[in-house]
Amino acid sequence: MDSARPTNGERFTVFARLMHWIMAVMTLAMIFIGVIMVTSVSHRDLLLAIHRPLGTAILVFVVVRFGYRLFHRPPPHPPTMHPWDRLAATASEYLFYALLFAQPLVGWALLSAAGTPIVLFDGVRLPAIAPHSTTVYAVLRDAHTVLAYLLFLVFVAHLCGVLFHSMILRDGVLDRMAFWRPARAVQEPAPDAARAVPPLERRGG
Ligand code: HEM
Repeated sequence: MDSARPTNGERFTVFARLMHWIMAVMTLAMIFIGVIMVTSVSHRDLLLAIHRPLGTAILVFVVVRFGYRLFHRPPPHPPTMHPWDRLAATASEYLFYALLFAQPLVGWALLSAAGTPIVLFDGVRLPAIAPHSTTVYAVLRDAHTVLAYLLFLVFVAHLCGVLFHSMILRDGVLDRMAFWRPARAVQEPAPDAARAVPPLERRGG
């Protein structure tokens, strides 16, 4: 199966890989911060003060990443992937984009509906993007929870897919998004080493 491992040309670009890992860490952190925030009384204000700017940063990142994706085609899927597998992978990528775009906007809108100032840092505030209304707040607050569950679900499905490919099929899917060298490239002998060892028939043995 090693022949299915990606070469450098079949990997995502360095920028795409950087964005992927930064956003993965930020999104997971946001889900956990959000859950602790609504379940803890003592640290709620501090966590919300982290949650607002980090969530807004995710919105900026997803816009940049999606724009980049429109102009840079990802590498082709490995041949070990069936058509339905490719469809599921592509669908989950777009679902990720949609959720990562919608979730921060809903968070921003729910604070707008609550009528509270949306402070990112000292002196930096976001404008309201929804009318000040208890009903709108209630709907958006529930939507924020549902989207968080959906995000976590898509994340778990994504992780299971990657683990299945990496540990069962061993087709190097993870190498496409990693910063380490793909296994095949590492195993390739250096040109100098190949020349240094003479072929058996010329060694006279
Ligand atoms: C990808 C980005 C985001 C993720 C993954 C996320 C995730 C979460 C989660 C998991 C919760 C807890 C929901 C619950 O259990 O009911 C939450 C609550 C909340 N989030 Fe977000 N969020 C994001 C962006 C934002 C943004 C940008 C804002 C505001 C600018 C925001 C404001 C809030 C507020 C006000 C709450 C409710 C806090 C409370 O009721 O005590 N979120 N978020």
